[in-house]
Amino acid sequence: MTFSFELLHRDGPARVGRMATPHGVVETPVFMPVGTQATVKGLTPDMVRDAGAQIILGNTYHLALRPGGDLVAELGGLHKFMKWDGPILTDSGGFQVFSLASQAKITDAGAKFRSHVDGSLLELTPEKAVEIQQQLGSDIAMVLDECPPGDAPPEVVRRAVTRSIRWAERCKAHHTRKDQVQFAIVQGGTNLDLRAECAKELVAMDFPGYALGGFSVGESPAAMHAALPTCAACLPEEKPRYLMGVGRPEDLLAGVASGIDMFDCVMPTRNGRNATAFTYAGIVKLRNSRHQRDPAPLEADCPCYCCRTFSRAYLHHLFRVDEMLGPILLSLHNIAFYLRLMRDSRRAIVEGRFADFHAECLAGWKRPAP
Ligand code: GUN
Ligand code: ZN
Repeated sequence: MTFSFELLHRDGPARVGRMATPHGVVETPVFMPVGTQATVKGLTPDMVRDAGAQIILGNTYHLALRPGGDLVAELGGLHKFMKWDGPILTDSGGFQVFSLASQAKITDAGAKFRSHVDGSLLELTPEKAVEIQQQLGSDIAMVLDECPPGDAPPEVVRRAVTRSIRWAERCKAHHTRKDQVQFAIVQGGTNLDLRAECAKELVAMDFPGYALGGFSVGESPAAMHAALPTCAACLPEEKPRYLMGVGRPEDLLAGVASGIDMFDCVMPTRNGRNATAFTYAGIVKLRNSRHQRDPAPLEADCPCYCCRTFSRAYLHHLFRVDEMLGPILLSLHNIAFYLRLMRDSRRAIVEGRFADFHAECLAGWKRPAP
């Protein structure tokens, strides 16, 4: 098996590591651009690679509905299908069932729900989630978990923890693919005792990596930031730690500071499609008319194709006339920014100055963006 994780540097709880997968090596902390439907929206694989991506994320729920796990397998697996030859992590589908499907009914057996595409009645069990991800052939598969909403009552969070532990066990027992590893997912909301208990059970099962799920589900950013150091410390030092579906640049840095190694979020692509750019100087809204005559690039020292090539005035124009190149260029810049943020974090950790780097970033995001 060609999966391994090695810690190379530490700076407080923050770490730099090297994760080897069958499709290549990933330097951590890492951001994984989201390619829900076998595409990072608006970007070709070459653009994603050139922006600095090392690994991308795919979604079992969407790909199981369309085109189907069997079709992707028939065409040689997800890497070949979408022409991304680097590492891929797939989420298990549980979270998407709760957020996208209608009438989701969760029992110990699995999740029954109606497809958001055609309304048909479907079932996702832990075994089914494993089988689909084996058909997709991702390098890292996630176990099926239950992610309750942020405002769920304590007994619902407790039941989700118990269920997620049993489902993790079943996923592990059903998994056979030798060129794929499975990561477990810790639930428990903002209840640190529950988180610790869930982590303890999952760690005893000896998964090759661990995720923190159930964050960014409606709790305050402050509550999440407060919970992260304790939650990360419940996980084994020597294995990769993944904070699922998070978040804004400041949330990623809070995660890195807590000892998290992997992140994914739709924010850079979703906000990019919506004319909103992330920079070290803060958020820039390209539809704002103050950019109309600005010959400067979006971010002067950003090495991305968008910033090397185009002016803010041009980007403003593209969004004003609704041209598709606008969303493409801002998605590209935002992905490149998230990847640069992680690269700069890695360097700061190696040089033992992550706390200063973190503080400088937060100060830059407090001032109004130029
Ligand atoms: N994506 C964001 N949060 C979660 C979670 O709690 N579980 C899963 N499976 N995916 C997620
Ligand atoms: Zn840029």
